[in-house]
Amino acid sequence: MNKPKLHLTSERNWMNDPNGLIYYKGKYHAFYQHFPYATQWGTMHWGHAVSDDMVNWTYEPIALFPSKPYDKNGCFSGSAIEVDGDLYLYYTSVKYIETEEDNTTVPKDNIFESSQAMIISKDGFNFDNFNDKSLIIPPIMDEKLGHYTHTRDPKVWKYKDNYYMIVGSKVKKADQEEHTGKLLYYRSKDAKTWEYINSFELHGLGDMWECPDIFNVNDNNILVMSPENYYTDGTYPTNNAVIGIVDFEEESCNTKFDKDDFRLADLGLDYYAPQTFIDKDGRRVQFGWLRMNKHFENHTWLGMMSLPRVIEVKNKEITTNVHPNISSLFIKEINIDNVDFSNPTCIKATLKDNSKISIGGYEITFENNIITANRTKVFNEEYVNLKASTPKLEDECNIEVYIDYGVIETYINKGQYVISHIVNPLENKLQIDNLSDFKIYTI
Ligand code: FRU
Repeated sequence: MNKPKLHLTSERNWMNDPNGLIYYKGKYHAFYQHFPYATQWGTMHWGHAVSDDMVNWTYEPIALFPSKPYDKNGCFSGSAIEVDGDLYLYYTSVKYIETEEDNTTVPKDNIFESSQAMIISKDGFNFDNFNDKSLIIPPIMDEKLGHYTHTRDPKVWKYKDNYYMIVGSKVKKADQEEHTGKLLYYRSKDAKTWEYINSFELHGLGDMWECPDIFNVNDNNILVMSPENYYTDGTYPTNNAVIGIVDFEEESCNTKFDKDDFRLADLGLDYYAPQTFIDKDGRRVQFGWLRMNKHFENHTWLGMMSLPRVIEVKNKEITTNVHPNISSLFIKEINIDNVDFSNPTCIKATLKDNSKISIGGYEITFENNIITANRTKVFNEEYVNLKASTPKLEDECNIEVYIDYGVIETYINKGQYVISHIVNPLENKLQIDNLSDFKIYTI
């Protein structure tokens, strides 16, 4: 089977953002942005997969599809909560003004009408797209408040007796050329009727904030979002997921942060639009979309979810580690000559000066206290980042490298940094230089 074993892909065709992640009635539900008819982005549906452990996933039928005047061209990203035993899904409903002349699945000139909508399911498996949807926040017509087209990705949570929603948007200031990213907050008593309560905007951190996600971990408020045009210096891709600790007052949603409070959520630049939820044991878990512009040759799917990651804060630093349900699978130690990268493989190593690992041509080096992961030899796409480096690190660094079909995720110094890269299916060859302390495991 030409698919990763531990990374969720669609059954076939296009996948992007994780949506509606939730542990609900004893199962993990992962929904995702999905175009079910081709290996390209188009009229958005919500694909659906279910798991007991975030390791083995079962595909379910498409959960959300366009069925209403307000979502007739797509069900964009959103989130899930449980209310009195029911599953509430929130999403951005999209109506194109015009389609491209020769392709009815994409909007002309990237202009469309966005509103926020929801659907209620009694069991998390049946979604009545005709009778159980409702429009909850109409399109924004006041350009000082937010953008008519680019306001989206509702993330909902409960705090004390109220439900709260954050959405990403942008506004244009008369004296500024670029748009300013903006967060809008809404509140509800019953999770169905919503009132606008607050906002925060900041110029110069990208120009529109996709998929905002705000939550508290170890007494710190963390904001994750995916700013468009985060890079304007020629770096590709231009849109990237960032994470930071912010000032946030939970009742009023008063928010404060600066550009410098943020860093990349993953240095590889394939990781985008991540979303978090609380797992069975109370951990804050994040999945992101590992984007692919093209499918691998002769493959029928593209795009995958990252491994589930646990987000924590230790000494004011955010750490990102592989979920224990995944890391605990790697107990079978193997010899360097027996690697088979079509099976999940994990390399644990301590890097010293000039250490080098080549995983079927994917190179991880440690020089002058900087780790660089280089996929030049195992990737042929344009408009992606081929090499990613950490800032300067200690003299010795430990890494855990998770290799699955088509992807490598490297976790550095117990979650200080992560570098994830999509790579072509790899040749079964592992080479190690200047490295005495390493072990290789499979599942
Ligand atoms: C992020 C994103 C979201 C949007 C969705 C559409 O990748 O652009 O902002 O809801 O994808 O598929």
